[in-house]
Amino acid sequence: MDKNSVPVIAIDGPSASGKGTVAKQVSEKLGFHYLDSGSLYRLVALVATHTGVHLSDEKGLSNIAQNLNVTFKGKEIWLGGEDVADIIRTEKCGNRASKVATYLQVRKALLDRQRAFRQSPGLVAEGRDMCSVVFPDAALKIFLFASVETRTERRYKQLMEKGVDVNIESILQDIRERDARDSSRSVAPLKQGIDSSFIDTTLLSISESVSEILRRYTEICAKNI
Ligand code: DC
Repeated sequence: MDKNSVPVIAIDGPSASGKGTVAKQVSEKLGFHYLDSGSLYRLVALVATHTGVHLSDEKGLSNIAQNLNVTFKGKEIWLGGEDVADIIRTEKCGNRASKVATYLQVRKALLDRQRAFRQSPGLVAEGRDMCSVVFPDAALKIFLFASVETRTERRYKQLMEKGVDVNIESILQDIRERDARDSSRSVAPLKQGIDSSFIDTTLLSISESVSEILRRYTEICAKNI
């Protein structure tokens, strides 16, 4: 199969909108591959911390992005000889990733790596610019929204379940800051494109969101027969 004819479901949305869990479940239901593009920005931020590269050093950061020695194995993310899947999920790493992601050269360096996930029989890719930049020809484009209050509560519960001591006010502030940075940057900002379909998950459960995406995808497939 020609790579460009492999179907992609592209899902963009703000921090803590639940797109990671939803996208993963959609990929499992369809037997498709899965790309969590945010993990790549998180990895660049992690390596920068380990190697002392400053977050203002675009060239240094893009060099890291170009040379990431990463292997994804199910839930594990191997960076060299270490599984960093948990370390990169911290709030601190997410914040640093959001800063790293503002640089054009970093984004360019990660482009081919993201497109390489497009493998038969299909791909579900989630992030901020999946619909606009990485997979503009995706079969289905979704903008997954949830109110900032709902996202704060979801993140709070998630962290409490992991045993992390957190303050709900600081999570709210953190999410607001990341929303502002991810949506206002000049390169590939998070925004809903005119060809994306909108899903508000504020009042939806994860399984309802998954079903809604599967329904829209089935509809598209039926039209294309
Ligand atoms: O989805 P996430 O929270 O793991 O992403 C971490 C940061 O990476 C996010 O704040 C913005 C950035 N990011 C991006 O700019 N483009 C993407 N496609 C994915 C993530």
